[in-house]
Amino acid sequence: MKAVVQDSYGSADVLRVGEIEKPEISDDDVMVRVHAAGLDPGVWHLMTGLPYLVRIMGYGLRAPKTRVPGNDLAGRIEAVGKNVTRFHTGDEVFGAANGSFAEYACAKEDLVALKPTNLTFEQAAAVPTSAFTALQGLRDHGRIEAGQSVLIIGASGGVGHYAVQLARAFGAEVTGVCSTTKVDMVRSIGADHVIDYKKEDFTAMGGKYDLILDTAGARPLTRLRRALTPRGTLVIVGAEGGNTWTGGIGRPLRGAMLSPFVKHNLRMYFAIGNREDLELLRELVEDGKVSPVIDRTYPLGEAADAIRYWEHGHGGGKVVITV
Ligand SMILES: NC(=O)c1ccc[n+]([C@@H]2O[C@H](COP(=O)([O-])OP(=O)(O)OC[C@H]3O[C@@H](n4cnc5c(N)ncnc54)[C@H](OP(=O)(O)O)[C@@H]3O)[C@@H](O)[C@H]2O)c1
Repeated sequence: MKAVVQDSYGSADVLRVGEIEKPEISDDDVMVRVHAAGLDPGVWHLMTGLPYLVRIMGYGLRAPKTRVPGNDLAGRIEAVGKNVTRFHTGDEVFGAANGSFAEYACAKEDLVALKPTNLTFEQAAAVPTSAFTALQGLRDHGRIEAGQSVLIIGASGGVGHYAVQLARAFGAEVTGVCSTTKVDMVRSIGADHVIDYKKEDFTAMGGKYDLILDTAGARPLTRLRRALTPRGTLVIVGAEGGNTWTGGIGRPLRGAMLSPFVKHNLRMYFAIGNREDLELLRELVEDGKVSPVIDRTYPLGEAADAIRYWEHGHGGGKVVITV
């Protein structure tokens, strides 16, 4: 099969398209004929091996253990393992699977669901990782409630644009923070208020939020806490940058350690894909409450260009590879 392959860590130049064996399907897996694969920062981290913490976490010290990049997919079931009961050959699905930048990828049965009927494969592939992250950040770690005032930092991004829509679906009043060129996009997905961080600093504007979901910018904790209500919650999803060894992990770790000693609730987390959340996202999409925004699509053979485009500041929403 055709796949994007990388044999070493590095820039997008390490990626090449080659012919490799189809993955082997295990008893609990489904094999998917991939039609589209989503791109997210995780792909970049595993491609570069940066920060080095990624390598120590088991992804391969000198070279990536998984040669084919990609975490998200949408496509048709090609084959099912012996223990699989929920899917049949030909079903249209979306979900999370390692090695999705390829014609075929294997996924755990519990990490795929039937594709939302109102989405194309490209749109569906843009959902899993980013939307899981937004959902779990708001619901599980932010304990979002209807009527709350919620601020989404990085509202134009892969995670942020789902967070804006999900927070609205939970009944919150939503303020999105993004750069000038994305203000209209963030408003169009339902934000009640939009702050252009190129022109205004929300931490100095006096606004107070019950919940802040922070996906970008790495603002210091002291400044973020200034924008919280007295018992408000700050959930740090992540931010790019930081040092080569640990990336941006220091700030959320400091927040989590400080949290027991202050009235604010300061949280960090790693999103975990699961069947229930994927089913919930499918329902929300089919009900029209959540809709992926696709910035650009690139064919498989141009996956390296897709990553270069993403790393130089993309146009908002998601970048998707078509296969
Ligand atoms: N904890 C987890 O489990 C988890 C899971 C997935 C992702 N993450 C992390 O979460 C972060 C966001 O991921 P993503 O997929 O949403 O990335 P993304 O698609 O690149 O989105 C980030 C967005 O932030 C905006 N931004 C950049 N600087 C900003 C600033 N100073 N203030 C406000 N917005 C700013 C960017 O657009 P504009 O500035 O042009 O508006 C961009 O749209 C990444 O660091 C990723 O590694 C964590």
